[in-house]
Order: sequence, then C-alpha cells, then structure tokens
Amino acid sequence: DSVESDYETILVRREERVGVITLNRPEALNALNTTVARELVAAAEEFDRDESIGAIVITGSERAFAAGADIAEMAGISFREAHLGDFVGGWAALARLRTPRIAAVSGYALGGGCELAMMCDLIIAADTAKFGQPEINLGVIPGMGGTQRLTRAIGKAKAMDLILTGRMMGAEEAERAGLVSRVVPAAALLDEALKTAAVIASKSLPSVYAAKEAVDVAFETVLAEGLRFEKRAFYSMFALGDQKEGMAAFLEKRKPDFGND
Ligand code: CAA
Repeated sequence: DSVESDYETILVRREERVGVITLNRPEALNALNTTVARELVAAAEEFDRDESIGAIVITGSERAFAAGADIAEMAGISFREAHLGDFVGGWAALARLRTPRIAAVSGYALGGGCELAMMCDLIIAADTAKFGQPEINLGVIPGMGGTQRLTRAIGKAKAMDLILTGRMMGAEEAERAGLVSRVVPAAALLDEALKTAAVIASKSLPSVYAAKEAVDVAFETVLAEGLRFEKRAFYSMFALGDQKEGMAAFLEKRKPDFGND
C-alpha cells in the first residue's frame, strides 16, 4: 500500500492494479461536503488517467459508507446559491470515468451516500449495509441521481417506496431488489471488493472499458441504440492485440497475457 496524496477527507492508496479511495470524515458519518466531492473526484480522475489502474474501490467506514450530502453545509443556502453554485454538479465527472468502480458499502449509505454508491458499477454490501433516500424527511428530494438511478436499478415500485417514505432498506432487501451485486459478512467486505476489483483489473483494459460502456448504454438509452452500440464495439475489439492474444491463449490452453499491443 502506498498513500498517493494527502487529502483532508479521503484516504487514497493503491494495491497493485486497484485504486482504493476511503471516505474519512468519521465525525460526520462520511457526509459528503464540497471538499469530499472535490477530493474524491480528483483522486478518482487521477486513477482513471493511470493506465496501470484497472479498477477503483470506493469505501467508507464500518459504521457508514456515507450518510448523505452534508446537511450542515446545505442547510442555509438559497435557491440562487444552489442553482448558480451547482453544488452537486461536480459529481457527474465521477460517473463519467471509464475505470470500473466498486462501492464497498458497510453501514449507512443514505441520500448522497446511496447515490454515490449508485455512481459505481458494482455495489458489494456488508450484511450491515443500510440504503435509503431520506431526503424527503428534510423537506427536499434526492439531488445526486437518486430518483433516476435508483428507479432504473430497482424499478418504480420500490424506488417510490424508498423515496416517498424515506425508509432504509437492509442489505438483503437491496440485493433482492437488484441494487446490490453481492452481500458478504461485514468482516469480509473490503477483501471481497479488492479481490473482485483485482479480477476486473486483470482483464484486457480496452475490453473492460468497452464492456462497461456498453452496459452503461443499456442503462442510459433504449434497446435498439444499445444493440447498435454493442455490435459496433464488439467488432472494434477485433482491432485489439488483446483479442488476438485472448483467443490464441484459449486455443493454446494457456492464460492470456493482455496489454502488449
Ligand atoms: N450531514 C451532516 N452531518 C451528518 C450527516 C449528514 N448527512 N449524517 C450524520 N451526520 C453527523 C451528525 O450530525 C452527528 O454529528 P454530531 O456528533 O456532531 O452531532 C454525527 O454525524 C453522527 O450522527 P448521529 O449522531 O445522527 O448518528 P446516529 O447513529 O444517531 O444516526 C443516521 C445515524 C441515521 C445515519 C443519522 O445520522 C442520519 O439520519 N443522518 C442523515 C441522513 C440523511 O438525511 N441523509 C440525506 C442527506 S440530504 C442529501 O443527501 C441530498 C442529496 O441527495 C444530494
């Protein structure tokens, strides 16, 4: 492990081909203020630019992945400040990155915390995880993608239930609903996330980017467009040395050695 930079609200390290970002505001259950947003996006962008990084794990503490946007910071702002300052706008840069992101969620993932998890490509949850969009209890609505990504992830019935009542959903319900890829015992969470990230990072990087992009198109557009995109992207894979290597390795019954063209 090596600490890459000194940030105030996050810890950043790399484990071989995996970048790890840990939210570190224990005094506020990792509430996402503007500093966290700036630092987390900057750290993720730096990993994304680094070709030796094949996956990013974003995690919090045992008690909280993140308990939402920082209410103390938001409480006093006006419509004008919200609108002109676009204080949640910076998060879009995270969702756009090519590198696959795994959210390793233990404890609370509420409001912006749930939305941050949903900006990741996979959510691996500890059995202690609690997801929710409690903004309605504060007299607002989700603002970092909750009404959109949650609805697409788990469907209208459950999204309405969570967003209109503000209730929390446990890890098992979240897995049943399709929000979460896997649930593991809390003690095994980080290990499982790191192992999964290492598996992804061991693949051909351009194929991983293309596969992720194609699944994202399914999430963001309509079937006909997605199928068109997939076929184009699939054919383009045949320009890669990794395709030649991957298929030759299969036929020669050996492990592929990607990344050499
Ligand atoms: N913002 C700022 N501070 C927060 C916070 C948040 N979202 N969540 C927790 N904290 C702070 C608390 O104020 C408290 O600080 P002090 O010790 O200084 O009082 C500390 O973290 C510990 O929290 P609690 O004492 O409340 O801990 P608890 O175990 O009793 O409760 C909890 C845990 C149920 C998660 C509760 O903290 C809670 O309900 N938090 C707010 C959750 C929420 O409403 N999130 C949505 C925010 S709005 C949003 O995210 C908008 C958007 O979509 C962009």
